[in-house]
Amino acid sequence: MSVLIVYGTKTGTSEKCAKYIADKLGEPVTLVNARDGIKIELSPYSTVIIGGSVRMGHITAAVSKFIEEEEENLLTKKVALFMCCGFTDEENINRQLEINFTPALKEHALCVKCFGGELHPDGTNKIDKLVAKMAFKADGDIDLTPELDYNAMNELVAAVKASLA
Ligand SMILES: Cc1cc2nc3c(=O)[nH]c(=O)nc-3n(C[C@H](O)[C@H](O)[C@H](O)COP(=O)(O)O)c2cc1C
Repeated sequence: MSVLIVYGTKTGTSEKCAKYIADKLGEPVTLVNARDGIKIELSPYSTVIIGGSVRMGHITAAVSKFIEEEEENLLTKKVALFMCCGFTDEENINRQLEINFTPALKEHALCVKCFGGELHPDGTNKIDKLVAKMAFKADGDIDLTPELDYNAMNELVAAVKASLA
């Protein structure tokens, strides 16, 4: 059973999550960092896990492009979706899930999870920090020190494993 994980990342957090999932799945897993110009061949895979980080409300551009181009194909496979983000409240998380994943794909997915996020004090430059602050403050008093939610990652792994059994 072959599993593909397609992720988009800016400062490495989504990649860390993708690698964590791959490790926990204990199946042969192919990891692909979605970048512009990369053609991802889906035919060898029966299960595709897709995720990335959200900036200014939008998931990594290469990931949304991949979803847009491959949605029809993805709807024929087992799919799980994840998002890394700074928002921790349900309202903003749901709003961002709505923006970034189509209703058809969400409906079809085995599970859709928010893994929380990280703001890197060293890897994030001053402009990024300012923009992130603006993004968060635009919707109220939001946690500026997000953390990764390993329970959510484990739940995604369990859902995918159950579908492979
Ligand atoms: C410039 C900037 C903008 C961000 N915008 C948002 C946002 O709109 N919504 C959100 O939930 N998180 C936002 N975040 C938080 C990121 O999603 C979070 O830091 C994530 O863990 C980054 O993952 P990555 O290293 O895989 O890119 C932002 C972070 C930065 C640095």
